[in-house]
Amino acid sequence: MKRLQAVRGMNDYFAEDLVVWRRLEHLLRDLVERYGYGEVLTPVVEPAELFIRSVGESSDIVSKEMYMFEDRNGDQLVLRPEGTASCIRAGLEHGKFYNQRQKWYYFEPMFRHERPQRGRYRQFYQFGVEAYGYSEVALDAEILQMIESVWSILGLAAERAPTLHLNSLGNIASRARYRQALVEYFTRYQNDLDEDAKRCLVSNPLRIVDSKNPAMQELIKDAPSILDYLDTDSAARFEQLQDLLQAANIAYQVDPRLVRGLDYYNDTVFEWMVTGPEGGSIAACAGGRYDQLIESMGGKDTPAIGFAFGFERLLSLVDTVALLEQNRAESAACGCYLIAMHEKTLPTIMRLTEALRAHGHRSVEMDYATSNLKNQLKRASRSGARWAIMAGTEELDKGKVLVKDLTDGAQKLLSVEEALELVLDR
Ligand code: HAM
Repeated sequence: MKRLQAVRGMNDYFAEDLVVWRRLEHLLRDLVERYGYGEVLTPVVEPAELFIRSVGESSDIVSKEMYMFEDRNGDQLVLRPEGTASCIRAGLEHGKFYNQRQKWYYFEPMFRHERPQRGRYRQFYQFGVEAYGYSEVALDAEILQMIESVWSILGLAAERAPTLHLNSLGNIASRARYRQALVEYFTRYQNDLDEDAKRCLVSNPLRIVDSKNPAMQELIKDAPSILDYLDTDSAARFEQLQDLLQAANIAYQVDPRLVRGLDYYNDTVFEWMVTGPEGGSIAACAGGRYDQLIESMGGKDTPAIGFAFGFERLLSLVDTVALLEQNRAESAACGCYLIAMHEKTLPTIMRLTEALRAHGHRSVEMDYATSNLKNQLKRASRSGARWAIMAGTEELDKGKVLVKDLTDGAQKLLSVEEALELVLDR
């Protein structure tokens, strides 16, 4: 029989993986909530049209990577490839943008049919942030500051810290002029273009400057720069953003080639690059402004900006060992392992176990066996708990339990109340 396996590029995670996962998740939630962002949760499945209209028909995501299917009603649906369009759909549908500013975040799986490798998956998690109704450049700066603080919270020292690549795509009119300049430039060298570039020349010439093909780099190097096509407003905005970043001591590189693979951006765009598990440079976090998107999807003119961390990529940067140690130390410091040394003491031990859990004690485990204390204690110490609480018939007759500190082996005979006092550290 054929062995059943997960879909290629989709991962299973177990408790031992999820310890670090949850810590990082908690850390990010806590951080963005302190900046005023509230959580949203949207469906995994959306109408295909949502992404065709927002991310853009010529983008790789829509043209090559969407998990698209027809449901039983004949509706064209997709497993969402990104969160920005879903948030807008939800916001418009529920009137959330009407004369309101919003700051949202989400932590959800996304789906793209890409070529899987370490750091690139077909189901991956994004921790994303979106702000609506703010046109001020100060928010662009604050968002970059917030991301920068994640690197320092994660203890990424200077040489391991992601580098911020920053660009401005200007407004629709300036981008149209830039597009024209690119078409003229690349048409002159049509014979030197690779197949992808030839396709993009018609559908999305901006993507050509983003090409990773080494054979194209010479040509791209001399292509027009978008920064020469910005209008006065966009240029001033970009200047002001850089002033704010410098004042906040945030290092960045202006990268005129950074055009992003999704069509909805204008003005500020950014990617934080890291060395990926395969050695090359990959983005751990990316985003930008998309001030026209809400209006183009049927809403009122509403400025917007956002970004998303690739959660698995972020995890790969974290010092897992340090985080696990920290976690072990914390749970061991308060964990309890309860042992009935005899069948008759099982009800008392079960009652005590529940009492500890009811007190919100972090990690409380019970040994289900009622004999072989040596093995029971072995399991207690393997559990990582600080305390073993035991009762045999002798202890029970005295109305007591035996409490052993597994860190130094010290043992005390205590009443149940005293035992609770001790392990709950009251
Ligand atoms: P994106 O650049 O397509 O932007 O994805 C954001 C991040 O998701 C990437 O920087 C990367 O870390 C992670 N990512 C993307 N694809 C994969 C993959 N196949 N495997 C693992 N990680 C991946 C967006 O999706 C925009 N919605 C971001 C945004 C929010 N812009 C404004 N608001």
